[in-house]
Amino acid sequence: MLLITGGAGYIGNHACIELLNTGYELVVIDNFSNSKVEALTRVQEITGKKFKVYNASLLNSDILEKVFSENHIDGVMHFAGLKSVGESVKLPLDYYHNNITGTISLCMTMQKYGVKKLVFSSSATVYGVPEWVPIQEDFPLRATNPYGRTKQMTEEILADLCQSDEDWSIAALRYFNPIGSHPSGRIGEDPNGIPNNLIPYITQVAIGRIDELKVLGHDYPTQDGTGVRDYIHIEDLAKGHVKAIEKVISTNGFHTYNLGTGRGYSVLEIVNVFEKISGKKIKYSLIDRRPGDIAVCYADPSKANRELNWVAEKGIEEMCSDAWRWQLNNPNGYEEVSEPMAMGINS
Ligand code: WQD
Repeated sequence: MLLITGGAGYIGNHACIELLNTGYELVVIDNFSNSKVEALTRVQEITGKKFKVYNASLLNSDILEKVFSENHIDGVMHFAGLKSVGESVKLPLDYYHNNITGTISLCMTMQKYGVKKLVFSSSATVYGVPEWVPIQEDFPLRATNPYGRTKQMTEEILADLCQSDEDWSIAALRYFNPIGSHPSGRIGEDPNGIPNNLIPYITQVAIGRIDELKVLGHDYPTQDGTGVRDYIHIEDLAKGHVKAIEKVISTNGFHTYNLGTGRGYSVLEIVNVFEKISGKKIKYSLIDRRPGDIAVCYADPSKANRELNWVAEKGIEEMCSDAWRWQLNNPNGYEEVSEPMAMGINS
């Protein structure tokens, strides 16, 4: 049985589907601060599988204790965390407390119950501004914002933990830019308020919730002047997590892996692809760069390809069409229909 922290989130609930379909039994803990119970209701609908859900923060050590004492946990997949770069600059203490203290609280409870298998949700933001691309796992870590530093510091803590006790087995997965949705269109990215990220912003322009896309920077040293990123289908990312937990169960030590495609696309290339697959014109204006953004970022995924026997398979058109299907089917995202108690939630 696996404990999934933050299982109601965009990445967490796509991973839950892949894990359930692979045959894992799950328990989810989520405080629903940036997600909806409805997402988990739909995971159960899509997979036909049930699982317990605990409505709590990882900072609530009583509930964490309850989770581990009531369930036989073999390993943990840890998604729970605050993840907005911009917000982290304004609220660093919230980010350090929630993301780092929360992880330490989780690991101390794991240690108490002898659970030492962990997959950690890290991020390509740990690399900061790379010297060159494609980015490899042994590149220097130099995050440039509090959010990225919480991921970098957490990786260092987890590496020390593995150094201290050889029974620990931990994989830190460095995500590039996850986009798209489960092909059913029943689950997807549902940001609170105005989206920070490009794809949900574009789909909200296409559905008419937002008037136009602001292209953040058009003077980057790229072929069309707009930012280049390594967009990876959320389904490929989720499948990478199944491979990672299998690796963690069968080995020991601390390992990091880039989960990306190895291919970059510019903002304007994404706009063109999206217009082609949706038949919608995306109105946009070119404005100044967003502070902290980098010009080009894409992965060398060969270590994950080799050691996890995992390759991202889905192309950019499928990423955009799956994202569009989610938005078309859910113009206002998950309109909360399930109360937290509706999931048999223990809290
Ligand atoms: C992509 C490109 C923007 C919005 C962020 C987090 C990172 C990770 C992934 C968690 C860039 C441009 C964007 C818009 C735009 N999340 N853009 N107009 O910044 O690469 O990474 O999400 O780990 O931590 O930093 O993703 O989607 O915000 O931007 O032009 O309205 O789209 O400049 O070139 P980013 P993004």
